[in-house]
Amino acid sequence: MADMQKLYEGKAKIIYSTEDPEILLTHFKDDATAFNALKRGTIIGKGEINCRMSTELFQILEAKGIPTHWIDQPAPNQMRVRRVKIVPVEVVVRNIAAGSLCKQTGLPLGTVLKHPLVEFFYKNDELGDPLLTRDRLLLLELATPEQLDQLKTMTLQINEILTEFFHQCGITLVDFKLEFGLDVNGKLLLADEISPDTCRLWDEGETDQTKRIMDKDRFRQDLGQVESAYQKVLERVLNSKTQG
Ligand code: CDP
Repeated sequence: MADMQKLYEGKAKIIYSTEDPEILLTHFKDDATAFNALKRGTIIGKGEINCRMSTELFQILEAKGIPTHWIDQPAPNQMRVRRVKIVPVEVVVRNIAAGSLCKQTGLPLGTVLKHPLVEFFYKNDELGDPLLTRDRLLLLELATPEQLDQLKTMTLQINEILTEFFHQCGITLVDFKLEFGLDVNGKLLLADEISPDTCRLWDEGETDQTKRIMDKDRFRQDLGQVESAYQKVLERVLNSKTQG
């Protein structure tokens, strides 16, 4: 990595340049943060788990026609990706009510939504990643109306593919966050990662609410057994892939 330059260090990843200007190297860290970095910690092995899991899921999505930034995984905690200009919007899709949806609407935790709900949040730590309306998003020129429609369509397709895949793993995909970027040709690609850091995943074999959580909520809520939950998700993803 001697000739690589650190371009950006985020809460969970470091991005390096490579000799090819169109290709970046992402290094996944074990560092964990929550509540806009007010809570900090380490989840041992998380970097490798999230990198491997994102690799598997990006490959599944690519095979189903979703364009992603993923190129390959040269090391356990490293992923090579196509350089994109990140759209500063976090796209959240929900199948079951949890987290900020419950807090802001009063819907009880676990309410099954009649249709998946797609929401846009402003990717802006200073402002605390606020929920955006479509008109605010357009006002801020974060995306064009066409891009916004495309973001929603792609997100719903991804949700359908991943909901079915996780169900095969005995896991309910409650909600998750996606980020997208524009490549050199202005094409929208799915970017960032998909992992227990960015999804709510509930074990279908458990009814106890605390026991069934297999994602970052274990860290957020100090529920313990964070590493083993992440590991279990990865094992099931890898098993399901070899069987499918
Ligand atoms: O997690 P929290 O209750 O703060 O927010 P949410 O809006 O309920 O989060 C919905 C989903 O997006 C969860 O799966 C979060 O893990 C994920 N998310 C994320 O990965 N990164 C963020 N900055 C915000 C949410």
